[in-house]
Amino acid sequence: MTIERSLVLVKPDGFQRGLTGEVLRRVEAKGYTLSVLAILTPTREVLAQHYAEHEGKPFYEPLLEFMSSGLVTAAVIEGHDCVKGFRALAGATNPTDAAPGTIRGDFGRDWGTAVQQNIVHGSDSVESATREIGIWFPQS
Ligand code: RTP
Ligand code: MG
Repeated sequence: MTIERSLVLVKPDGFQRGLTGEVLRRVEAKGYTLSVLAILTPTREVLAQHYAEHEGKPFYEPLLEFMSSGLVTAAVIEGHDCVKGFRALAGATNPTDAAPGTIRGDFGRDWGTAVQQNIVHGSDSVESATREIGIWFPQS
């Protein structure tokens, strides 16, 4: 067993559409556990750190605008290979490409706004997870 932690975010689109429970249900149904859970409107400072790798890209400003536009559920999940495993539950970044059965494939939208409304974020590596958990939950 390789127990990892990952940072999962239910983004403002997912929160507003009442999909937090559905996302957490899928996390738990897979066998991962929730170890930290918070509902908050992220500050620009947190988002700038979180999305530092995307600074300068065309979608960076719309992304920060979107992510700070409302409440977000932030969770630390734990489980065997859960970094890769949650990315599989989430599906491809672009909701049109995401396979049915994945969170983004079932619920994501990539029309009508400047930014892909893809419901969730999941850390893309164990190193990213450690970095992101420190940004969102500095006390943990
Ligand atoms: P995330 O970080 O949110 O889990 O998503 P990801 O790894 O699958 O995608 P990433 O490349 O890290 O992009 C972060 C978020 O930026 C928005 N995005 N929009 N071309 C676009 O319109 C575009 N590209 C990225 C998405 O919300 C994506 O999740
Ligand atoms: Mg990413």
